[in-house]
Amino acid sequence: MSKATPVIAPRGLEGVVAAATAVGAVADGNLQYRGYSIDQLAPHASYEEVAHLLLMGALPNAAALTAFKTELAGHRALSPFLLGILENMSPRGTAMDVLRTVVSASAAEDEDEGDNSHAANLRKAVRLTAKMPTILAAYIRRRAGERPVSPDPALGHAANFAQMAFGDKAHPRAAEVLNTCFILQAEHGLNASTFAARITAATLADMHAAVTAGLAALKGPLHGGATDGTMRMLDEIGSVAAVPTFVDKSFASKYKFPGFGHRVYINVDPRAKYLRRFAGELAAMTAKGTPYFAIQEALVADVNSRRHFPVNVDYYAATTYTYLGIPSDLGTSIFAIGRIAGWCAHITEQHDDNRLIRPESEYTGPTGRVWTPVAGR
Ligand SMILES: CC(C)(COP(=O)(O)OP(=O)(O)OC[C@H]1O[C@@H](n2cnc3c(N)ncnc32)[C@H](O)[C@@H]1OP(=O)(O)O)[C@@H](O)C(=O)NCCC(=O)NCCS
Repeated sequence: MSKATPVIAPRGLEGVVAAATAVGAVADGNLQYRGYSIDQLAPHASYEEVAHLLLMGALPNAAALTAFKTELAGHRALSPFLLGILENMSPRGTAMDVLRTVVSASAAEDEDEGDNSHAANLRKAVRLTAKMPTILAAYIRRRAGERPVSPDPALGHAANFAQMAFGDKAHPRAAEVLNTCFILQAEHGLNASTFAARITAATLADMHAAVTAGLAALKGPLHGGATDGTMRMLDEIGSVAAVPTFVDKSFASKYKFPGFGHRVYINVDPRAKYLRRFAGELAAMTAKGTPYFAIQEALVADVNSRRHFPVNVDYYAATTYTYLGIPSDLGTSIFAIGRIAGWCAHITEQHDDNRLIRPESEYTGPTGRVWTPVAGR
C-alpha cells in the first residue's frame, strides 16, 4: 500500500473537489439534478417526480410515477414506537432536534437495517422521504396542543404535509408553493450536510446514520439554519425605515447577514428567483403584520450597494414560509423535508462505490510536553 503525499487543503476545503457524483451539479448561477436544470423542473414537476429522478436516476413515466407515489404514500404513517419518542421529547426541543432524533430512532425498526445494498438503500430512501413530513407535522401539531393528523394517501407529498401540519388552516397556496420549495431544496451537490452524510456513509454506517449526520449539519446557521436566522434578523429590523441603521451596525460588527452569500454562487443563486417571486406574491396577499418582503427588498439593495453578496436559497424561502402561515422557527426543518431525497441519493451513490473519506490534519499544538502527576499541576 503506497502512501499519498499530504497536501494542505485550503481552509473550509474551498475549491477542493472531494467526491465524484452523478446526482447533481452546482456551478455559479446553474444548478442541475441528474442533467436537468432546476429551471426545467421547478415550474413543472411534482416533488415525487424529482425524488424519483434523484433516487432512481430518471424521471418516471406515468406508470412508474403512480407506483412511486403509491409506495411513498404507503410509508407515511409513523409507528407507535416513533410517535412515542416524539411525545416523550422535551417540549423545548426544536423541530430539527426532533427530526434528527426520530429519524435516527427509525433505524431500529427498519426492515433493511444492516443492509447497505443498492436495492435496500432505495427502499430505505423511500421510507425516509415518506416519513419525514409526517414527523415534522406531528411535531408542529403537538406543540400547538393538537393531536397528529393521519396521512391521506389521496394527496400528493406537499399537499399531504400541509394538511397533516395545518389542517383547515393551511394557506390556499400552501401545497403548490411547498411542492416547488421542496424541489428547489432537494439537492445541492457537496454542500455541508450532504458531505457530512457521505462521510458517515463512507464508514459503511447505514443510511439512517448518514441522514442523521446530514440533519445535524443542516441545523447550523451557516447552512440551513440561515432560513430561521433570516426571520430573526427581519424581526429585529422590524421596518423598512430601520434598514440603513441595521446595515451600518452590521457591517461595523462584521455580522454575517443570514440568507446572503454563498461558497459556490458568486453572482446568483438560481433558486432565489423562484422564492423571491413566491414571497412577493404572498406578501401582496397579506394585509397585516410586519412588512417582511419590503424589508427584505430594502435590505438587499442597501447591502449590495456596499458590497456584493448574492442572496441564497434561504433568504426568500424564510419569508415564503412565513407568509404561508408557517411559524418562523420551522424554515430549516421544511428545508430538510425537501433535502432528504438528495441526501439519500448521495448516500446510495457513496455505498455503491465506496472508499473511506479520511483526510489528515495539520497539527498546530505544542509538542514534547512532560507528564506531571495531578498533585503537582
Ligand atoms: C454561506 C457562507 C457560509 C459562505 O461562506 P464562505 O464561502 O466561507 O465565505 P466567507 O465567510 O469566507 O466570506 C468571504 C467574505 O465575505 C463576507 N461574507 C460572506 N457572507 C456574508 C454575509 N452573509 N454577511 C456579511 N458578510 C459576508 C465575509 O465576512 C468575508 O469577508 P472578508 O473577506 O472581508 O473577510 C457565508 O456567505 C455566510 O456565512 N452566509 C450567511 C449564512 C447563510 O446564509 N448560509 C446559507 C448558505 S446557503
